[in-house]
Amino acid sequence: MEIEAHNRAMMRLVQAVQELSLARTLDKVMQIVRTVARELTGADGATFVLRDGDKCYYADEDAIQPLWKGMRFPLTACISGWAMLNKDNAVIPDIYQDPRIPADAYRPTFVKSLAMVPIRSSAPIGAIGNYWAEYHHPDAQQVSLLQALADATSVTMENLQVYAELERRVQERTRDLEEANRSLESFSYTVSHDLRAPLRAIDGFSRMLEPGPYKDRIQQAGQRMGGLIENLLDLARYARAEVQRRQVDLSDIAAQIANRLEAPIDIEANMTTECDRELLSVALENLLSNACKYSSKQAEPHIEFSRTTRDGQTVYYVRDNGAGFDMEKAQKLFTPFQRMHTQSEFPGTGVGLATVHKIITRHGGAIWAESAVGQGTTFYFTLSSPPIVAWDSPVLSSTAATPAAPGRE
Ligand SMILES: Nc1ncnc2c1ncn2[C@@H]1O[C@H](COP(=O)(O)OP(=O)(O)OP(=O)(O)O)[C@@H](O)[C@H]1O
Ligand SMILES: [Mg+2]
Repeated sequence: MEIEAHNRAMMRLVQAVQELSLARTLDKVMQIVRTVARELTGADGATFVLRDGDKCYYADEDAIQPLWKGMRFPLTACISGWAMLNKDNAVIPDIYQDPRIPADAYRPTFVKSLAMVPIRSSAPIGAIGNYWAEYHHPDAQQVSLLQALADATSVTMENLQVYAELERRVQERTRDLEEANRSLESFSYTVSHDLRAPLRAIDGFSRMLEPGPYKDRIQQAGQRMGGLIENLLDLARYARAEVQRRQVDLSDIAAQIANRLEAPIDIEANMTTECDRELLSVALENLLSNACKYSSKQAEPHIEFSRTTRDGQTVYYVRDNGAGFDMEKAQKLFTPFQRMHTQSEFPGTGVGLATVHKIITRHGGAIWAESAVGQGTTFYFTLSSPPIVAWDSPVLSSTAATPAAPGRE
């Protein structure tokens, strides 16, 4: 093979490898291989043979006249089988002189010479054949080009299996998620419908009771349960809500909440950031009303909503000088129904912080607390921006790791 022809062939081979790297189906792989195989060596025909148990399956071909497409032969009865069984190439300048060739199968065809290379050298899964209509002695360079093509083909076919496996796992995972979502939906439905109806009945019948302490207690318990149901439904709703980021003034939201709570809260002005307005309103409502509730027994309650910077990241915080809690027991702070105060000390359902946690993590941020019994509490949170996925940078994790808690200034 002359240098120039060889260079052209090499270029074609590189292009074929690129095409193969994009192929996602066996049909596409065969289509690329059968055409390239012919072009590389200038042959008059090429076949793509797959091993099928103890048979050779002539899966695809590209030739001046039909060869054996769609046919199966025993591995021991054809030259592609010989290449697979011997893990070696076969170069045959005259097929009628070689005992490995079943001459009868070739007589109806144009073939006089051939070269056959196995796909995958360790345990061949197929073979690529080249055929010539005139007597021709395929040279070492042609055979090594074909072998290089066969090697690229084997990598591609192994990748196809990996893709199929990945695809299968993605589908499985999607099914699990859909299942979880469905059970959450049916849970919410059950909670809202099946629990609310008997609650209405209790409320209705209790109204018919004579006024007295029992009637009051039944109605209070009913109200409490009603509140619990509302909070649970909120939690389920915010866990799934889509985060719609836009420019939001957190100071403004906090001021409205302070108004509603009728609590004097020190709010740093102009804390604007990109976040979901509705979700952050819910989160701040919970944090600020907690701060009010748990500092309500203080002679001079003081509540503050402000921000600081740690490692270049903005950290918001809600601080109070209230009852505080034991940090040792705070592992489940953000788990629904986990409370660190009794109903008689401070009433509540224990769902608020779980909702806040969901909202913050949905934003890719983190939330943590600092507290001590009788020393007040500070809740810190971040709202990291959506990750920027650049071409040459690793994909950033969407949930920021919890930074070290900043100390009190
Ligand atoms: N600012 C705070 N100071 C002291 N303890 C707090 C504070 N915020 C939360 N906690 C503790 O964390 C627990 C969980 O808070 P969370 O807001 O989830 O529930 P809750 O306030 O009890 O009820 P609700 O669901 O009505 O908000 C509380 O029961 C309380 O013990
Ligand atoms: Mg609360």
